[in-house]
Amino acid sequence: MQKIAVLTSGGDAPGMNAAIRAVVRTAIHYNMEAYAVYEGYKGLVEGKIKKMERGDVSQIINRGGTIIGSSRLKDFKKSEVQDIAIKNLNDLGIDALITIGGDGTYRGAMDLTNKGIKCIAIPGTIDNDIASTEYTIGFFTALDTAIDAIDKLRDTSFSHQRCTVVEVMGRNCGDLAIFAGIACGAEIVITKDTGFDHAAVMKKVRQASLIGKRHVVIVVAENITDVFQLAKDVEDHSTYEARASVLGYIQRGGTPSSYDRILASKMGAYAVELIKQGLGGKALFANSLTIGHCDIFDALKQKLKSSDLYEYLPKLN
Ligand code: F6P
Repeated sequence: MQKIAVLTSGGDAPGMNAAIRAVVRTAIHYNMEAYAVYEGYKGLVEGKIKKMERGDVSQIINRGGTIIGSSRLKDFKKSEVQDIAIKNLNDLGIDALITIGGDGTYRGAMDLTNKGIKCIAIPGTIDNDIASTEYTIGFFTALDTAIDAIDKLRDTSFSHQRCTVVEVMGRNCGDLAIFAGIACGAEIVITKDTGFDHAAVMKKVRQASLIGKRHVVIVVAENITDVFQLAKDVEDHSTYEARASVLGYIQRGGTPSSYDRILASKMGAYAVELIKQGLGGKALFANSLTIGHCDIFDALKQKLKSSDLYEYLPKLN
């Protein structure tokens, strides 16, 4: 009987639980044994590995965070530490490992792959900073949280004719900032990709005042600049009063959105299928917001495609 394990590592992201559930349920569907590694790579090294049954993943599809815990283990870069983890897997006869996390998690999975462990990496991070996939599990939920918060800040900003400076997470990736900026109609978005030109930002704020805007919203990606200082600078260089808010860890929690539940469910099941086919050393991806065009006269002529979710249903429930 094939034995597979799943772990979550790095910053937790909404939807990780839905992915864990899909891995466990799909493995059981295919008569495999499913194991959970608790506390990420740290738990893998410490041997915190438990066999999972169907019921162990009940009532978690709607829960944020990760029920099996997560951690960041710097020492996992060391070959001798990786060897302990591999021994723990071998001792239990576990053939393959599914890792859910961000770039650090991917690096760990690559190292284990190099040492002969069959790994499948599932992208799970609010930062959306995995190059091989357009979207990561957790990104859209975190985005919704940021949007909700910025909408609320906008209310007070409008009422007081203020400039609101808001910092969102993303580590070194500007996706949360740019997506939230567009969805909230922010006047200014500052990320690594836009660059931060202080004088240009001040000029834009003054222009907003000149054309009669009651208020201004500036969304800033983390690790770019001190948003509290930026708010002070806005007050010094324009007619607006300014206030800064850092959204912080609230963006990591909460009920996963519909998109993240579906993406996580599909990816968890798909990862098990790849292992069943004997594959390892793979990273899953999802591309979905691409837009295009077709002739208007063809639009309704095409045959409606049924969703591929039908094939997932028996494995997940
Ligand atoms: O990777 C997710 C993330 O929340 C980043 O957006 C942020 O920079 C980082 O984790 C914070 O890390 P920690 O939880 O270690 O403080």
